[in-house]
Amino acid sequence: IKASGSLHEFLMDIHADYGPMASFLFGPQLVVSICCPDLYKQYLKTFDRPASLFEFLEPLITANSIQFANGAEGRMRHSAYMRSFGDSMVKNYYPMLQKFASDLTRSLQLEAKETHIPLRKYMFAFAIKAMLRGAYGKYFDSDEEIHKLRAAYDVCWTDLEHRLLGDLPVEGSKRDERFEKNKKIMYDIMQKVLDDRRSNPPENDERCFVDALIDLDVSEDVKKSDMLTVLIAGFHTTGLLLTWCLYYLAKHEEIQDKLLGEIEAVLGKDGVVKADNVHQLPYLRQVLNESLRCSVLAPFAARVQSTDVEIGGHTIPANTPVLMALGVTLCNDEFYPDPEIFDPERFTEENMKNRPSLAFEPFGFGKRKCLGYKFSMAEFSVLIPTLIRHLKVELVPGQVVTPMFGLVTTPTDEIWVTVSERK
Ligand code: HEM
Repeated sequence: IKASGSLHEFLMDIHADYGPMASFLFGPQLVVSICCPDLYKQYLKTFDRPASLFEFLEPLITANSIQFANGAEGRMRHSAYMRSFGDSMVKNYYPMLQKFASDLTRSLQLEAKETHIPLRKYMFAFAIKAMLRGAYGKYFDSDEEIHKLRAAYDVCWTDLEHRLLGDLPVEGSKRDERFEKNKKIMYDIMQKVLDDRRSNPPENDERCFVDALIDLDVSEDVKKSDMLTVLIAGFHTTGLLLTWCLYYLAKHEEIQDKLLGEIEAVLGKDGVVKADNVHQLPYLRQVLNESLRCSVLAPFAARVQSTDVEIGGHTIPANTPVLMALGVTLCNDEFYPDPEIFDPERFTEENMKNRPSLAFEPFGFGKRKCLGYKFSMAEFSVLIPTLIRHLKVELVPGQVVTPMFGLVTTPTDEIWVTVSERK
């Protein structure tokens, strides 16, 4: 894996050599990887996820997290959370997202044409605010609390990234103390959010994820672990989706112009994106899908079963982790010719008919599909049109942008852009 550069690149290599089903040893553990829609079909109903592949997250989100919850308990929590990010809830988030998108656009409008703007930094700031205010309610009306949480989060997340590369902290060391101190800050804030919400219950149309969690019959520790898990899962991913999308739009002026044309034609001069008009923007959806595909944003999911499974002419022994190499599928030239090229035309209705639907599953699939995908799509559908209709985004010349594939795919370095006000 190290020699290939990352797990995603390793999976690309082994599937190129051995076909759609391959196995390898991950430490002492036999792991199977599959990358084709026909094989995915057999996992549509499987819910359980192997804990061993995600152990590096445990010091922060703890063993209580939904990430590690299987069986009936896991299903119950997954469907309760999924409902709280379902259509009827997400439609209430649009006005809030519009406000944050307009605030961000206004602050960028103040920048001079020559100013180099750090794209990822801005997109992360939007994504964390949307996530915290959307999922946890009014407690995060305070920017100060958002900054406090973000600072603690950055310390803990950077530490986890080192652990993933095999650099483990010594127990009781300064580094260990720093991690534990910042982890405590995050859990304390989560406790305050729960307490505050219980003392100030929301009106019905203001209910959000944290209220579903409060109603759930699980321990306070489980609640806090899941709050942190949802934050981590939802913030980085969406922040990076927005970053990659604006990078592609800056790189391909003609695509940015075509998107602007659709936005102006459908929304008119001052109209905004809402739950009931977003479906009128098919090209925006094509750009969203192609950004998810081309960036290989979340390269894999994983499942496990407690019995032997016959698949593709092979037997997978009980309890063997099976990786769904979603990113390998997204780069397969049988479905996506010249896969490294950003081309939203791949997602016209006509072109989509020619591919199996499981060839495009950037949020995972089946019983354990990402529970926040609709929220993430709403964030995208509000922010991108708001920015693009007011500002032309261009890349600062001379940059080499390379992806770094982890659990989520990030640009190796910051991406710098300039913006200019549209007439
Ligand atoms: C572009 C944005 C996102 C991408 C690409 C993404 C992708 C994924 C993928 C591939 C999985 C694994 C699914 C599987 O096992 O089949 C997942 C799980 C998950 N996602 Fe997302 N996600 C995104 C945004 C979000 C958001 C906004 C939230 C929260 C609101 C969220 C919360 C979660 C959680 C909690 C899980 C684990 C669920 C469980 O263990 O049952 N994600 N996501």
